[in-house]
Amino acid sequence: MHTGCSSDQVAILSERVSIHGQWSSRLMFVLAATGSAVGLGNIWKFPYITGENGGGAFVLVYLLSIALIGIPIMVAEVSIGRRGRQSPVNALRALAQDDGGSRFWWLVGFLGIVTCLLILSFYSVIAGCALAYVLRTAGGVFRGVTASGAESIFSGLISDPEKLLAWHTLFMIMTLGVVARGVRSGLEQAVRFLMPMLFLMLLLLVILGYQLHFESFMKGVRFMFLPDFDALTANGILVAMGHAFFTLSLGMGAMMVYGSYLPAGISIFRASFFIALVDTLVALMAGLAIFPMVFASELGTGSGPGLIFQTLPIAFGQIPGGRWVGTLFFVLLVFASLTSAISLLEPAVAWLVENRGIQRIRATVLVGSVSWVLGVITILSLGPWAFGFQFAGESRSKGLFDIMDVLTSVIMLPVGGLAVALLAGWVLSRARTVAELGGREGVAFWLWYLTIRYVTPVSLIAVFLHAIGVI
Ligand code: TRP
Repeated sequence: MHTGCSSDQVAILSERVSIHGQWSSRLMFVLAATGSAVGLGNIWKFPYITGENGGGAFVLVYLLSIALIGIPIMVAEVSIGRRGRQSPVNALRALAQDDGGSRFWWLVGFLGIVTCLLILSFYSVIAGCALAYVLRTAGGVFRGVTASGAESIFSGLISDPEKLLAWHTLFMIMTLGVVARGVRSGLEQAVRFLMPMLFLMLLLLVILGYQLHFESFMKGVRFMFLPDFDALTANGILVAMGHAFFTLSLGMGAMMVYGSYLPAGISIFRASFFIALVDTLVALMAGLAIFPMVFASELGTGSGPGLIFQTLPIAFGQIPGGRWVGTLFFVLLVFASLTSAISLLEPAVAWLVENRGIQRIRATVLVGSVSWVLGVITILSLGPWAFGFQFAGESRSKGLFDIMDVLTSVIMLPVGGLAVALLAGWVLSRARTVAELGGREGVAFWLWYLTIRYVTPVSLIAVFLHAIGVI
């Protein structure tokens, strides 16, 4: 990021300039935002929640949520960020006040900061598992492995708090390292080269699944794309909707803070659409790589958070050169997680720098440390502290980890998103929003505006009411 933005360029759309600098180019924003969106959410979480929630019908609700809720909120977040040119807390306060709203909108930004600390805490533990799998795969542990072998290797890892702590710590240090070195140099390369590689890698795995186990491949395709509405519960709808937020990094200010570094002139509509498209394709490909393996082995679709760690190694163990293909895959997964993790830090860091005058590096270490400590909760709840409970009629077995997951993805992100939709649709001045979104009240604008005003809030509230049994 640099601050070399001509002042008249800024003046057209907003009078503010971010103290944190600006992306060096339009491409950089798209890369960073795509890097934030594509991560464990796509490759680890999407397949396992699809498996747990019965497949096709769940995927359909998820795709609808991306289109009707995710993309409109992304446009709102990025444009609020760019107009506000500050951390989400301050941008929300400033914009709402400029346009005659309440000053308490900053609370939404604050909720976002708390959410991001919580998400980062378990994100880093799972990314730590991916890191552990780089070594395990390279070491040839998975050669010819069976489903039960892969299961026991995974449970050996997650039931050992010391190992998990070590990997979690290493991942957190890597994240802080990337942020401290400056987001630009490292991140740009990571997203520009490693993301397309990850994409190709997933494609390769999908093709392999097709060739190795054609029957199972078709079962996987049917499972993902043939909706069976009987398999979909009210809770499943809620999880699908929450995941649209998680996977697009919405609802806690990450896209907003990235938008605040965005130069004037780039089309927010086009960028948001592109980011959502890439993100969705990656998730669907991950599903197509994983489900054929599930059906080809005796694993169940509902194996939960371990799904990716129990299925892909079987594929790597079967193919020639699978050891290196697998190693590369987990390396790429770690990079995808890194580019997401830094966006979980950014809203809190930007806020600490603005409001507390803390230096950037210090703020980063502070936020990272809090999340690191919280991560211990996840580590213990995967093993020694595991307990089962019922939530919305579903049984869950990972205790505090499940609680954090539900609290963040299913409650806090959608609530944050709803607030953003209401702010953008009902509080902020339409003229100023139009100016931010390209200056013309064309078809794209009206399509978005009506969606964010009516469709998005109504669908969000309906899903919530449905989940608690009111409708
Ligand atoms: N979107 C990322 C993923 O799919 C995770 C993530 C990054 C995130 N930043 C976020 C989730 C902000 C919610 C909010 O892996």
